[in-house]
Amino acid sequence: SAAEKGGYETFMEKEINDQPKAVEDTLLGRSDETGRMVLDELRIDPEELRQVSKIIVLACGTAAYAGTVAKYAIEHWCRVPVEVELAHEFRYRDPIIDTSTLIVSVSQSGETMDTLMAVRYAKEQGARTLAICNTNGSTIPRESDAVLYTHAGPEIAVASTKAFLAQITGAYVLGLYLAQLRGQMFTGEIQDILADLHKIPSKIQQILDDSESIKSLARAMAATPSVLFLGRHVGFPVAMEGALKLKELAYIHAEGFAAGELKHGPIALIEEGQPVFVVVPSPRGRDSLHAKVVSNIQEVRARGAKTITVAEAGDDDVREYSEEVFFVPDTQPLLMPLLTTVPLQIFACALAEQKGYDVDQPRNLAKSVTVE
Ligand code: G6P
Repeated sequence: SAAEKGGYETFMEKEINDQPKAVEDTLLGRSDETGRMVLDELRIDPEELRQVSKIIVLACGTAAYAGTVAKYAIEHWCRVPVEVELAHEFRYRDPIIDTSTLIVSVSQSGETMDTLMAVRYAKEQGARTLAICNTNGSTIPRESDAVLYTHAGPEIAVASTKAFLAQITGAYVLGLYLAQLRGQMFTGEIQDILADLHKIPSKIQQILDDSESIKSLARAMAATPSVLFLGRHVGFPVAMEGALKLKELAYIHAEGFAAGELKHGPIALIEEGQPVFVVVPSPRGRDSLHAKVVSNIQEVRARGAKTITVAEAGDDDVREYSEEVFFVPDTQPLLMPLLTTVPLQIFACALAEQKGYDVDQPRNLAKSVTVE
């Protein structure tokens, strides 16, 4: 009913607009008055978490892209190796797991059979298991040693939006907690990141309030047969998710790439008029990633691409090479996915609506895939 959709036409639109709250609620109560991270729901002995020598993140679909963000953040903050693997690939390749391995599953529903079977397999091999999950009491958290619930609220639309942002937020919370526990970061550093995380919901709201231009671009592009997405560092999984949303909602051929990979093959796809979204890293980030991605934009544009960039506010270098630019507010480079994902979701949703598709129930897809 209209009331369930909070006044929006579709659950998809409602859920995209629920994202400030999804992030805020997932951050709620994760630190005490002294600024220390607290995770009450973790039922793993802290000593065991200190001993963890390797983390493997297991997930499917959108949740697996949240897993890649988790890898980048946890390795940077905790200095512990993190692998990310599609859950359905994991147990069929004889993976190396032992009692010092921590499995982190990421699942909105907590019922995805591929993910559940991978978690069970890892448990049998002696690993500790932690579930980042949005559904209270679902199977994966019940069968795991520990759970970190995301608080996105029920997600009804089949393609994931707010649960994705909540999963990324949950991954940051876990990373900061592990960094504290393992003595990898000072309390002050953790507090600074947490303070920046708490500013994210209002920044997402700014993107939502300012989304008319991305919607009109999407409507104008409804006839496009193919869209490419480039990103680097944490912008890479965002590019993958942008492409997935477009496939799921608008049935358009869409592909995400790591921008550095462009010259190793995908650049051959570029021809006159090919739309290319580029998720641009923060110009304030480390290394020279920003400059490298700006040159990628130039490279595809020189070959006729229609370049559409998602960049940090104030990043004027990209304007010159972009047919369209969507600016998002600034934050720490590692936290950018919580902002840069949003315009891509809005784009896919508006484009699918323009084509007259049911964005809540795309063809051939199920909300929770409970078969292997
Ligand atoms: C299905 C949904 C996707 C979702 C994936 C994983 O394929 O259509 O939107 O990302 O399952 O779901 P989970 O509940 O495990 O996060």
